[in-house]
Amino acid sequence: MTANFRAPKGVAEYAGAEAAGFEAVLDALADSARRAGYGFLELPIFEDTALFVRGVGESTDVVSKEMFTFADRAGRSLTLRPEGTAGAIRAIIEHSLDKGQLPVKVLYAGPFFRAERPQAGRFRQFSQVGIEAVGSDDPALDAEVISVADDGYRDLGLRDFTLLLNSLGCRTCRPVYRATLAEYLAGFDLDEATRARAESNPLRVLDDKRPELAEMIAAAPTPVEHLCVDCAVHYDQVRHYLRALGVRWTEAPRLVRGLDYYTRTTFEFAHARLGAQSGIGGGGRYDGLMADLGGADVGGIGFGLGVDRTLLACEAEGLTPGTEAGVDVYGIALGENPKSALVALLGALRRAGLRTDMAYGDRGLRGAMKGADRSGAPWVAIIGERDLADDSLTLRDLSSGEQAAVPLADIDGLVRRITAGKEVDDAPHS
Ligand code: HAM
Repeated sequence: MTANFRAPKGVAEYAGAEAAGFEAVLDALADSARRAGYGFLELPIFEDTALFVRGVGESTDVVSKEMFTFADRAGRSLTLRPEGTAGAIRAIIEHSLDKGQLPVKVLYAGPFFRAERPQAGRFRQFSQVGIEAVGSDDPALDAEVISVADDGYRDLGLRDFTLLLNSLGCRTCRPVYRATLAEYLAGFDLDEATRARAESNPLRVLDDKRPELAEMIAAAPTPVEHLCVDCAVHYDQVRHYLRALGVRWTEAPRLVRGLDYYTRTTFEFAHARLGAQSGIGGGGRYDGLMADLGGADVGGIGFGLGVDRTLLACEAEGLTPGTEAGVDVYGIALGENPKSALVALLGALRRAGLRTDMAYGDRGLRGAMKGADRSGAPWVAIIGERDLADDSLTLRDLSSGEQAAVPLADIDGLVRRITAGKEVDDAPHS
């Protein structure tokens, strides 16, 4: 009997053209962050459970219902990371990264895990590209973080999304707002679980998506109405810098997001064509988190962009990231000695920066040309016995069908010829 294994339920998995799309989305989002000076941070996939309980908040859905938690052999409780901020802050504190130039600006990417009920766009293993900037409360930094996300989406060609923006206040004005909201919620007849939430963490109730609560939530007092003077000025300046950056947004006074560490600026990018799971990315400021996790009392801000949902958004807008040709040159050898020469030639071309592939398994010219077509390569390098006798190869341009003999030793000339065509192809289309 043969085993019939399948990927676990709710796991996003990509192969072929979809995998190329996934990689292109991840690259575009990370590239936008690199252009703003964010440096790569490689983080563990699992951490002490207590880090997430402390960092993300015990009463959040993420911590109370969605963590994949297990004991190691010594009985320590570990959790597959449900999000990246707590781990990134832990690493910044552990390695004293905040003792140098501030803000510290880090970038991370990879899989995250939440035991959610799987549905379209909602997975138990999904990927994020995230950034965190720690050690400054300058509102220009908030605007930078938001525009890095906005630029990443736009670089992919996405247009049909909205930036939702809010400010949640700070440790001075939040308690006042919290008390006002709790008092408002106390006036409603709520089920037991919601009542308990309204008392322990009233802001979480604003995040409740059940239709029967929609009316109550729509009329609830909002954080922006209760900002202290410092927070109101900060929020105005964030919007001032966003305007300067040409980023457009929609005010979302009841956006609270699902994690407890947020203060002041919070935001989410919602895509119009993704149905219920419309959030393609989100983030915000977390001015108490460093201190809560044992570090210096400095603020920070960051985002997590969902790679899987961004790819779905691209598909919904008819975009096909990652479909550019996979290789520049496809090699075909006709005979044993030509094959040795071709293997050496392609190695030299790769070292010179070109992408290559070749026909393996001695398929003959016809079969090999099919392979060349499938590879998407614009150029084919053919070496037969006669070419080899002349110390040359036949370089064929697949779009025009033209071909020419080129000296085998002239790697630089070959690279120039091939990249000249490529530069024209790669030029931005306006
Ligand atoms: P988050 O909003 O929980 O924030 O997640 C960020 C993004 O990850 C979401 O907007 C969504 O695109 C994607 N995502 C979340 N859960 C799933 C899921 N089950 N399936 C597919 N995609 C999902 C955070 O994680 C914060 N750490 C962001 C942050 C960084 N805030 C400050 N710094």
